[in-house]
Amino acid sequence: MEKKVLYSAVQPSGNLTIGNYTGAIRNWVKLQSEYECYYAIANMHAITVRQDPAELRRRTVELLALYIACGVSPEHCTLYVQSQVPQHAELTWVLNTMTYVGEMERMTQFKDKSAKHAENINMGLMDYPVLMAADILLYQTDIVPVGVDQRQHLEIARDIAARFNNRFGETFRLPEAYTLKEGAKIGSLQEPTKKMSKSDENPNASVYLSDDKDTVIRKFRRAVTDSDNRIVASEDKPGVTNLLNIYSAFAGCTVAEAEKQFEGKGYGDFKLAVGETVADVLAPVQAEQKRLLADKAYLNQVLKEGADRAYKTARKTLSKVYRKIGFYQGE
Ligand code: TYM
Repeated sequence: MEKKVLYSAVQPSGNLTIGNYTGAIRNWVKLQSEYECYYAIANMHAITVRQDPAELRRRTVELLALYIACGVSPEHCTLYVQSQVPQHAELTWVLNTMTYVGEMERMTQFKDKSAKHAENINMGLMDYPVLMAADILLYQTDIVPVGVDQRQHLEIARDIAARFNNRFGETFRLPEAYTLKEGAKIGSLQEPTKKMSKSDENPNASVYLSDDKDTVIRKFRRAVTDSDNRIVASEDKPGVTNLLNIYSAFAGCTVAEAEKQFEGKGYGDFKLAVGETVADVLAPVQAEQKRLLADKAYLNQVLKEGADRAYKTARKTLSKVYRKIGFYQGE
């Protein structure tokens, strides 16, 4: 039986956080043998906010090394850079003509990023979800493992696909979001009701995958909690709840099990345990990433093979789309 298709991507914009790991990459590894997987480096999405060109280039390779260091297998999965497969931009253009400005203006991420980058509200920022829909639809994707913050984009991708299918006949498979409970929504350590983000200006708000053990422990020690000393998850305790979530995602247990484990303990001991658990997961990933980055020839080869494979699939879908909408392709 043919395997179902899984698609996901991360932007090479800034330092990846533990949220990117638990919400996305960690789940990619779990699912890779069960699905036919495409994992992209979304550099076209990244330029919707200003990027330094040299840094963008460096981060692209670092992100590939990170995927592999986290356990994503280049033999079993297609790993590639989005800009190396031109069909992403081409399908975006077609889908743009069946997406409404009002829908894009209502997207939460667009509103957040517009507020944050008021001096640079460019067309790309608004079009971000359409490019993401094109990514997913080009590969006839069944499931898309993402964190909670991306679910709205997944819904719009489904809407656009259904709209196209209705108008031109069955063309795209409708993708489903795949979100695991633990780690799908990691909050900032300083403002736990906000998501932990690569682009947070406060370095204590995010734990980066590149942080060393001392830094990880220091950041967790400074994480905001509250004044009562109970280690339980509840709506009025967002800081403690966030730490319990992080702990459960990294220790491989449920939040209820974590609560039990820390019953009667103080916040100091709890934060230290969270920090140590996270740091112990990150250390081997960092060492492997460093080793891989010393072998650029290998990484370039992985990207070349990935782009070739992705291109073949993407070309098939785009050609079907062009045929359906009446773009002349020779008779
Ligand atoms: P990016 O780079 O912003 O995020 C990459 C992945 O990390 C997840 N994530 C989180 N999960 C839990 N807690 C957090 N604090 C947290 N922060 C980020 C995101 O949900 C995402 O899964 N637009 C995508 C990139 C993309 C994409 C695609 C994804 C481009 N094309 C096609 C899926 C399919 C994004 O959010 O990137």
